[in-house]
Amino acid sequence: GLDIAPLLKQTGKVTLDTGFVNTASCTSAITYIDGDAGILRYRGYPIEQLAEKSSFLEVSHLLIHGELPTEAELSRFTEDVKEHTLIREEMRRFFDGFPRDAHPMAVLSSGVSALSTFYQDSLDPFDKDQVEISTVRLLAKLPTIAAHSYKNSIGHPTLYPDNSLSYVENFQRMTFGLPTTPYEVNPLHSRVLDMLLVLHADHEQNCSTSTVRLVGSSQANMFASVSAGVNALFGPLHGGANEAVLSMLSKIDAEGGDVGSFVSAVKDKSAGTRLMGFGHRVYRNYDPRATIVKKAAREVIDAMPNPDPMLDIALQLEEIALSDDYFVERKLYPNVDFYTGLIYRAMGFPPRMFTVLFALGRLPGWIAQWREMINDPATKIGRPRQVYTGATERDYVALSDR
Ligand code: ACO
Repeated sequence: GLDIAPLLKQTGKVTLDTGFVNTASCTSAITYIDGDAGILRYRGYPIEQLAEKSSFLEVSHLLIHGELPTEAELSRFTEDVKEHTLIREEMRRFFDGFPRDAHPMAVLSSGVSALSTFYQDSLDPFDKDQVEISTVRLLAKLPTIAAHSYKNSIGHPTLYPDNSLSYVENFQRMTFGLPTTPYEVNPLHSRVLDMLLVLHADHEQNCSTSTVRLVGSSQANMFASVSAGVNALFGPLHGGANEAVLSMLSKIDAEGGDVGSFVSAVKDKSAGTRLMGFGHRVYRNYDPRATIVKKAAREVIDAMPNPDPMLDIALQLEEIALSDDYFVERKLYPNVDFYTGLIYRAMGFPPRMFTVLFALGRLPGWIAQWREMINDPATKIGRPRQVYTGATERDYVALSDR
């Protein structure tokens, strides 16, 4: 409703595009999305093929280095990552300083930011070797930091990484294992968790990735830029949605499971509630990742001794919403987060860890995008313009006269 014509007179010609709905901030060769057709590809490879056939470290290599690795490259990349899974002892103590009830995303971003203090030998964005070692350190240490943030929140001792395990198994053990008992890997959970990390690995210029690029455009180092990305992901309209979906499903369940009334209430916008896990800025069709996650949720939940009734609530919610004009007209479909929370819950993760899992998955995308931005000669410091709506010139009034 704002009449911007007079404002533009004083600003000069600029494009007002709040939320960057139609403004590209860069060119990129990493991820392709066709939101109308529901297509997602990393470096040209369809997400469906990568989810089914690939692994998280292989996809990380693809995103970061541009190509699927050969067997030798993958083995070297995996060994490099394993070599750096430990965090420094001073950093382990760092976690004791946070309150027990701190949100693990807040601890995660602080942990990533703190890497700039421990690895001052690798902060130069224009030194190729330093960028390589920062890349490996981040990929290796994020699961360790994430598991520590969780252990700290429940008052349990932290576990050192076990590099005889795979990337995902090692994270599961550091999260759920106990120092006194051997950890038994659940192969279904490891496979599905690895696949979920693949699905989250990049999504072009979303809020957190744009944040990583914007911070990095000032030539801030990779750790500083990625910690900003973690903070952007923290919000409930972005990564925090998976946690919000589960609160929503629990609320529906606690109030008697009347899904139809809940959907009707969401349509009344004055109530200010949204159907969490529904809608997407780019997808105006079924999110291709949600199709894959829905199938995996069924598989993991069916394998539980007491299958989670919340899955049925979610399935009903989807069915009702997709046949309701409100959602049809606005092209609102389930996004990747609609079913992920149910899987994480079945694996034993508490809701506060859900967004942390998203961050673990998104990490290679943030790194790949940061590296692409730093190496692009067209990169300039990000500096959006504005349309000023404040007071015109006025004279200072002395304190005694106000
Ligand atoms: N429930 C109900 N109505 C919705 C929803 C929803 N989840 N999402 C959008 N709408 C409505 C809006 O009220 C608006 O209606 P109007 O045209 O009558 O005003 C219309 O659909 C368009 O919505 P916008 O807010 O303009 O869409 P935008 O692209 O800005 O927002 C977003 C996208 C933030 C994802 C939104 O759909 C949302 O809030 N969804 C719920 C949170 C969520 O699931 N986030 C995860 C996103 S995916 C990710 O980060 C991995």
